[in-house]
Amino acid sequence: MTATPQRPPFGSVLASHMAVASFQGGKWSAADLKPVGPLELSPAAHVLHYASTCFEGFKAFRRADGSVHVFRMDRHIERMRQSAKSLVLPVPDPQQLADMVRAVIDRCREAVPEAPGALYLRPLLFGTMANIGAAATPSADAMLLVLASPVWDYFSGGMKPLRILVDDEHTRSAAQMGMVKTGGNYAAAMGPTLEARATYQVDQVLFCPGGEVQETGAANFLLLREGQLLTRGLDATFLHGVTRDSLITLARDQGFEVTERVFSVADMLEWVKNGEAALSGTAAVLAGVGTLIHRGLEHRVGNGEVGPITRALRAQLVAVQQGEAPDRHGWLQRV
Ligand SMILES: Cc1ncc(COP(=O)(O)O)c(C=O)c1O
Repeated sequence: MTATPQRPPFGSVLASHMAVASFQGGKWSAADLKPVGPLELSPAAHVLHYASTCFEGFKAFRRADGSVHVFRMDRHIERMRQSAKSLVLPVPDPQQLADMVRAVIDRCREAVPEAPGALYLRPLLFGTMANIGAAATPSADAMLLVLASPVWDYFSGGMKPLRILVDDEHTRSAAQMGMVKTGGNYAAAMGPTLEARATYQVDQVLFCPGGEVQETGAANFLLLREGQLLTRGLDATFLHGVTRDSLITLARDQGFEVTERVFSVADMLEWVKNGEAALSGTAAVLAGVGTLIHRGLEHRVGNGEVGPITRALRAQLVAVQQGEAPDRHGWLQRV
């Protein structure tokens, strides 16, 4: 048996146990906590044909005293319920799902890494109804799982400034699906992202259909400068990130002027001449952008390094998450 590397790539190693519940006959079963293993699924399962699936991702942190605290689980559960509604899947009961998450954390407590690592929690919901003629029929049955994975850095370069392709041709998702955390959106972003990586050696693609800045394949996009934060206002076209909301809150707390509105690629390129740009998300936390590539031209963001405002905001969020700064907004829950 090969030993697990000390810091495996994000998401590549699962903790030992998962929680499982199923929806049948109009109700949820009691949840089971069991060792991670293969699932039994009909080859006609709705999800395999019609992509009836959504998921969530959030973290639990271990403190120096050994206690474990989960970050904004309620918001992630609410977003999953919203995703389930949009996909016409059975909607998880918030109490049951929270109990499932707590049960997994409790069973896998030993697997929660010390800071700066975390235990990443991955609830997953999918349609299991066996019917290959159900393209326009919702799945009456579903399965709800909670997986966990010890994680460290998402971008393997840590605080290295990111190279981002600004893509004003492709869309990341169908317009009404952007705010739904569903597998199909990631499948749609995959081709353009791989092509951009091969052609421009970028880390990610910033989708800007019609010249309006939306988000990258797996993170929201923020512009920063002294006392100012600009990001797209909430609409159906992109995922309403909990990290985005947390950073906005921390920025407002210290008197930043926060603007949430539609802005263009041209606005962004003007801003980054002497401002900062960053990606926000559970996995990325707040990752600074060093270069934007648009229509073959490279635009340096500020001086090309991760900027001081990005570093400071990131450090503030991490300090709250790790219990080193006061949790003024009640974001953490001890498990
Ligand atoms: C497409 C997309 N946008 C934004 C985010 C950031 O969301 P959050 O901050 O809730 O993790 C994620 C990551 O989960 C994502 O996959």
